[in-house]
Amino acid sequence: MSQQQAYAQPPAPRPFELDVEKLRDLERHNKLPVFTTFQDHADGDFTVIVAGKGVYLWDAEGNQYLDGCSGIGNVGLGYDQTEIADAVHAQMKTLPFHLGGWNFSTPPSIELAAKLTQHAPDGLNRVIFVSGGSEANETVIKVSRLYFRLRGFEKKTTAIALDRSYHGATYGAASLTGLPHMHEHFEPMLSKVRHIPTPYRYRCEQCGTQPACTLACADMLEKVILEEGPETVAFFIAEPVLGGGGGIPLPPEYFQRIRAICDKYDVLMVSDEVITGFGRTGKMFAIEHAGVTPDMISTAKGINSGYLPLGAVLLHEKIYDTFLQAPEGTDFSHGYTNSGHPVCCAAGLKTLEIMERDQLVDHAARMGALFHEGLAELHSSPIVGDVRGLGLTAGLEFVQNKEMREPFPPETNVADYVRRAAMKRGLLVRELGPDIIFMAPPLIITQQEVGLLLQRLKDTLTETEAWLAAKA
Ligand SMILES: Cc1ncc(COP(=O)(O)O)c(C=O)c1O
Repeated sequence: MSQQQAYAQPPAPRPFELDVEKLRDLERHNKLPVFTTFQDHADGDFTVIVAGKGVYLWDAEGNQYLDGCSGIGNVGLGYDQTEIADAVHAQMKTLPFHLGGWNFSTPPSIELAAKLTQHAPDGLNRVIFVSGGSEANETVIKVSRLYFRLRGFEKKTTAIALDRSYHGATYGAASLTGLPHMHEHFEPMLSKVRHIPTPYRYRCEQCGTQPACTLACADMLEKVILEEGPETVAFFIAEPVLGGGGGIPLPPEYFQRIRAICDKYDVLMVSDEVITGFGRTGKMFAIEHAGVTPDMISTAKGINSGYLPLGAVLLHEKIYDTFLQAPEGTDFSHGYTNSGHPVCCAAGLKTLEIMERDQLVDHAARMGALFHEGLAELHSSPIVGDVRGLGLTAGLEFVQNKEMREPFPPETNVADYVRRAAMKRGLLVRELGPDIIFMAPPLIITQQEVGLLLQRLKDTLTETEAWLAAKA
């Protein structure tokens, strides 16, 4: 019996009649892999996913996986929402495309914008549609520049972000990103970005040895604003739970202090909710946990459960008011062919309708609590140094010495072993560097599926412990 067969599995949605070898060959010879090493791809080290249902996926060989990552944090509603497919089909037949700007609009983009502002924190009453998270953050950069320029502060162009942040792969968004590997081969990045320490409790250099967070990391924002000169700083951006940076949740008090500092120096505060938006943390937007209102929220992924490319920036009314008072003839010379694409927006509208009807934000809060209860038990593993996250997000950090929080030598690549061992047991987790795995299961996950995920993870950790012991 294979490791996969050891678990009860729902049946595959349909039999697969694929020429798997041919597909794998075409992939290897024609595609340039992204976020995969060239050598791994050339060696055929990739999985061809062919079908999905609920929280499950199947690969071309017929192996089933419980998707612990919701695709890449986007497929919150799981893989078989026929209502979204029907809405998309109907919109495609009625009007497959028209513009969401240039003096045009379409019903799905109008209705989705209204629905988004209804769910957004008070004051965030304007929506700019884009095609994904990177474009959302590019838009944030340009909105902030126009906003300050119109107010006569031309020099306010610097952005401040966290040193472990991920904000996207396009040039501006990658510049905001703090993770070094996103800059490594592409420098010089935009020069007007400063990075400050992430409130990373497990390895905090400011207050890690103290019993509670002192918010010294938030005070770093003030320090850097003063170093740069407040007249040059446009915005601060952070993810309420860092995704690519390690599943690190930021404390509510952190954002409260950040909000006060931003207000003091006329700096815009931006919450990047590309992963955390749309219920993932048990609130519609994760910044609600902090009870503060940002000036902009960037979103994508869960906005239409990843069924089609879509993103949006939610803007505070104060920004729009400034735009409205612009000299006659001023426009926002920004936008994309696909801004407000009617088919992508129809998928978004249906997604939000399902979320409201099935009360999925509350469901995610309940499943998130169960998920973290179970994960807390896995903390007893000798190799699990930290378990963190919020709602249906989680990061696990592996260490060789728990007391000293000593990482394994990077070449051990524990996270890679865990990812592969989890796949053998029918569970998808994402590795972030050599020591961390990240999970973000679908919002629709049931109690029983949370149990199955945790069981597969537990078995994976047991195998990893044995592998490490054998290596020592
Ligand atoms: C927090 C955050 N911001 C922005 C992005 C970029 O989004 P996209 O890949 O849709 O461009 C991501 C992607 O994972 C993200 O996690």
